Amino acid sequence: MVKVNVAVLGASGWMGKVHTMAYQTFPHFFGEGNGTAHVAALVEANPQAANELSFRAPGAKILQSWKEAVNDPEIDLIDICLPDSLHYEVAKAALLAGKHVYCEKPLADTASEARELADIAREKGVITRVGHAFPRNPVHDVARDIITSGDIGDIKLFKGCQHVDVYSDPLAPYMWRADASLAPTGIVGDTGTHVFSIMHFLLGRTSAVIADNFIATDKRPVVDGVGYGEETQLSGDEEWRDITNPDGTNLLCRFENGARGIVDFSRIATGRKFRQSYEVYGTKGSLVYDYDEVNRLRFYSHDDPNGRRGFREIDVGPEHDTFRAFLPLPNFALGYNESKIIEVAEVIRSISTNTPIWPTFDDGHHICQIVDACMDSSKAQRWVEIS
Ligand SMILES: NC(=O)c1ccc[n+]([C@@H]2O[C@H](COP(=O)([O-])OP(=O)(O)OC[C@H]3O[C@@H](n4cnc5c(N)ncnc54)[C@H](O)[C@@H]3O)[C@@H](O)[C@H]2O)c1
Repeated sequence: MVKVNVAVLGASGWMGKVHTMAYQTFPHFFGEGNGTAHVAALVEANPQAANELSFRAPGAKILQSWKEAVNDPEIDLIDICLPDSLHYEVAKAALLAGKHVYCEKPLADTASEARELADIAREKGVITRVGHAFPRNPVHDVARDIITSGDIGDIKLFKGCQHVDVYSDPLAPYMWRADASLAPTGIVGDTGTHVFSIMHFLLGRTSAVIADNFIATDKRPVVDGVGYGEETQLSGDEEWRDITNPDGTNLLCRFENGARGIVDFSRIATGRKFRQSYEVYGTKGSLVYDYDEVNRLRFYSHDDPNGRRGFREIDVGPEHDTFRAFLPLPNFALGYNESKIIEVAEVIRSISTNTPIWPTFDDGHHICQIVDACMDSSKAQRWVEIS
């Protein structure tokens, strides 16, 4: 049995915690037949947070520098849960050191960086994976099967969105996600990539976009120790920092398969704690998905008899391997963390069987191409082609 030694980088953060949990729990659901993982190192730059890490992965080395993990011969897999602007530098160093690399989204700040990473990975013959977890909910496997089987005909229109409201309040504090030096593409790399990953999973490549990025609030107060989405009281003495990347984007797109798309995403949609949905319209039918009903797909077929047509609800359940792994009955709901456990199980299977599984760094590169195109298009106020 293959046992993969992993270093989780950014271990105290949201994703660091989720990934660490997923390595430890996936064999409970998927067994050990496709390999197991040992969290051998947790890397965290914040010394206070690092001191509190050891209980999460007993026996793991607690490190403060990602370079130590990358150069550690005992580590097989580098798992990057760091702020966006570090992804490229760390992933490149890890690939050059011959490690397998699993990197949170967005893979890199630019498509050319992502291309370089994918090329190095190919030269080194290592396994790569980007953390686009939402499509790993088996409901999207069903959507893709319906699309690829031709049951809804030729796809003509995709509508997708993702919104939160962490920045709807103009007094909500500054966070690294709103700083272009740490997250150069802002909401586009942060949230747009989730919608783009769903688009790529369901419809394939995007060929052109025209985007309108916007900043809703120019300056925000700096309040130390406030986590993502947490509310706080201001003292009035805060430093105010410029917001330097987009809060929201509205875009039109075209797909290589000829379909058109309308997509919007933001962090300023007041009252939308987490809104994600899509609609896919084909010549013979359509699909509608809403994260509020996380495992439910609505399917309309024009082949149904006239007078009996309407959207039917498909509750994805244990007839799917990745659902049955967790739950014996439908409608008990597989949520976000289960998507991450599925993802981590696939990362380990990918390494143990030496088989790339979507989304690799090549797929992450295409998603970064869409991000680049949105940034360029919004700046130039015109359509930008993706080749
Ligand atoms: N796939 C998803 O659904 C999803 C969800 C949330 C975040 N993300 C991505 O995951 C990444 C991390 O996001 P997060 O929400 O976990 O952020 P976070 O701020 O909660 O955590 C980042 C952690 O990295 C640590 N860190 C920063 N610089 C470091 C360095 N040089 N060395 C070691 N540790 C360092 C921080 O102290 C912090 O603990 C981002 O790229 C984000 O886009 C993906």
